Amino acid sequence: MRVGLIGYGYWGPNLARALNQTEKCEFVACCDANPRSLGKALRTYPSLKGFSSTNELWDSVDAVVIATPIATHFDLAREALLHGKHVMVEKPLAHSSRLAEELVVLAERQGRTHMTGHTFIYSPPVIAVKNLIQDGTLGDIHYISLSRVNLGLYQKDVDVIWDLAVHDVSILLHWLNEMPVWGTSFGRACVQKDKNDVAFIWLQFPSGVVASIEISWLSPQKMRRTSIVGSKRMVVYDDTEPSEKVKIYDRGVVVKQPESFGEYQLTYRLGNMVAPSLSNVEPLLVEVEHFIECSTSGQRPNTDGAFGLKVVQVLERVAKSSFSTPPQVSALMHMAGVA
Ligand SMILES: NC(=O)c1ccc[n+]([C@@H]2O[C@H](COP(=O)([O-])OP(=O)(O)OC[C@H]3O[C@@H](n4cnc5c(N)ncnc54)[C@H](O)[C@@H]3O)[C@@H](O)[C@H]2O)c1
Repeated sequence: MRVGLIGYGYWGPNLARALNQTEKCEFVACCDANPRSLGKALRTYPSLKGFSSTNELWDSVDAVVIATPIATHFDLAREALLHGKHVMVEKPLAHSSRLAEELVVLAERQGRTHMTGHTFIYSPPVIAVKNLIQDGTLGDIHYISLSRVNLGLYQKDVDVIWDLAVHDVSILLHWLNEMPVWGTSFGRACVQKDKNDVAFIWLQFPSGVVASIEISWLSPQKMRRTSIVGSKRMVVYDDTEPSEKVKIYDRGVVVKQPESFGEYQLTYRLGNMVAPSLSNVEPLLVEVEHFIECSTSGQRPNTDGAFGLKVVQVLERVAKSSFSTPPQVSALMHMAGVA
């Protein structure tokens, strides 16, 4: 499989390193519209063919990885699919759900592998938490709260929801395997005009799980912290920890029913904490190899175009706060005589 990379800006070099490292494909070409970026790629990997536009690229490759600004994803992915190439598009798949859906339909029609680069889905801590949810270790999930904040990197083309929350939304959809029935967001543009650099998102899922996501480019400390609270166990996943990224707490509240007439009592369960050992494979390498394996075998990627589309649908609705009012809230408003 001959693979080419389109876009060698901030993120492209990481993908190039993974493509160069794996033995599962031949990394043969790089395309970047900026001559300086292309020059950097060719100095680092002298055997690559270099292209300043995609026009001449297609004959040299069987598959491409696209790491260009979000607004260019649709046109480039569409062009690649129309040339019969397998495509991995960096997150998010496209800047609107209408365009993302068009790509999903086109990939299906062309019979080509179409994957979205949701790297966290391939990371050992995220996989470990998914297993804990799936095998019932955590019990019923009550709520999940996620924080992804630090100072920068400010993006010119998108706001903080489309840049950072895309990770958290993909993680939530992967863990819970359901789409939210309700969601909203609010935020503020503190530095750049009309572009929120801080936002807070609330989501509610059909199973009853509620989730909050805090994202910011304007925060003094880097924080990548998620709590998952279940009826049997609670988990803290801290991606900034060098080791012990996932900690499972045997903690909770137990309701004791009264033996005779009287008030029930709450007791606190303060059990042990366990930090499972996790593999230290590089998620980006796993992701790139998964794309190549799927392109070769025809197997559907874990983060296929349809998954990428769902993430875009949630981001779009949350950014516009266009979900209808959740049933619980309308019931409360009704009880309070508001509705
Ligand atoms: N998975 C992750 O954790 C992660 C992290 C950072 C960025 N990203 C994603 O990677 C993508 C790229 O982000 P970035 O920060 O590297 O952007 P960037 O602006 O730093 O780099 C983009 C590069 O693409 C080139 N380019 C633009 N249009 C082109 C075109 N039509 N043809 C060829 N080259 C073109 C530009 O010259 C530039 O070198 C985005 O989708 C972003 O969301 C993913």
